[in-house]
Amino acid sequence: MQTVAGTSFIEPFTVEIDVNRGEMPRAKHHIVRRASDMRGHYADQEALERLIADSGDPVHYEVFEVPVPEEYGHLMYCISTLQPGTVGDECFMTKGHYHTVVNTGETYLCLRGEGYMIMKTSDGRFNAQPMVRDRMVYVPPYWAHRSVNTGDEPLVSYCVYGAEAGHNYGDIEQEGFIKRVYRRSGAVEIV
Ligand code: F6R
Ligand code: ZN
Repeated sequence: MQTVAGTSFIEPFTVEIDVNRGEMPRAKHHIVRRASDMRGHYADQEALERLIADSGDPVHYEVFEVPVPEEYGHLMYCISTLQPGTVGDECFMTKGHYHTVVNTGETYLCLRGEGYMIMKTSDGRFNAQPMVRDRMVYVPPYWAHRSVNTGDEPLVSYCVYGAEAGHNYGDIEQEGFIKRVYRRSGAVEIV
């Protein structure tokens, strides 16, 4: 068998996914982000501090993955579970990022819950796509992406992307996402 330089040969495998709990039980990487990890991301910083102090710094979202080599040719995949809730009236969301290798895309298949994938380019384009069960969002190369939970239950999605992609959080932290997602009197507003 001939292999290609830069893409490691590995054995095939399967993973278990608990769709309802939004977990990959035997994940090797389990990232947990709490409310305190989200400082600087919400418009109402005081509301975030109140949430941290009054609710014991609750888990905001978790990412489960069985990693593969971070190389061109491999596909990284994960389960991401974002809890419902608001900071002030802004819906719980992920930090969001560009990929470090900017020309890598990603797909998100929503397995449970409801929300939006909000996306932005470095030259100021904005796009929001609904995330609802059985719907897939395609995040093309170059778009920073953040998921937002607008519902009352966990937003669970399964994502797949080029394993060499990497995560660039710094640029979008500086730029912001242009729009924010709020739930006011039961209605979702993207403004
Ligand atoms: C991977 C990807 C997702 C997110 C996850 C958490 O490229 O987009 O797996 O990493 O939804 O969001 P972040 O990474 O923005 O904290
Ligand atoms: Zn990504």
